[in-house]
Amino acid sequence: MAERIATMIDAQKIQARIAELGAQITKDYEGKRLVLVCVLKGSFVFTADLARVIDRELRVEFLGVRSYGEGTSSTGVVQITQDLSKPIEGEDILIVEDIVDTGLTIAHLLELLGTRKPASLKVCALLHKPARTRVEVPIDYLGFTIEDKFVVGYGLDWSERFRNLPMIGVVEPS
Ligand code: IMP
Repeated sequence: MAERIATMIDAQKIQARIAELGAQITKDYEGKRLVLVCVLKGSFVFTADLARVIDRELRVEFLGVRSYGEGTSSTGVVQITQDLSKPIEGEDILIVEDIVDTGLTIAHLLELLGTRKPASLKVCALLHKPARTRVEVPIDYLGFTIEDKFVVGYGLDWSERFRNLPMIGVVEPS
């Protein structure tokens, strides 16, 4: 199948914005050691690039979450498929998420990780689709606000496809 992908945010723009986020995070976490919690699978590309522009001591943890079925609409059910490898009590946690859509996933993760008594708990999301908000969640660091379109690329998938595209795009009906 050869669907056409219309570019929404090109690779250069993504990298430029991530550099800005990294600089802000570096400033805000002065004197701290942070833990990046990469929300799998969609955030693996974003986390890899973000980690490299944060000039602070950090470690990376992975949290497996499933919130979507095979289609493009939210089931509203958030399932943990892989937990963190270590306790996070007393640590400065930054959740790294590809996109905040309904907000259900981040709301669930904030509640779950909050019970583990971290010193701080913040959210960094590359994309936000405010038109689809079902629960308001705090986004401490945000890359881009986008319109209500299903996007792929830069880690984001459509039934597991297109994660390897360097840009964020929209699948055009063929
Ligand atoms: P939320 O719980 O509705 O905020 O959804 C968060 C998760 O749904 C994201 O981490 C993505 O995995 C997935 N998702 C939401 N919107 C899109 C999209 O436009 N493209 C690809 N995945 C999406």
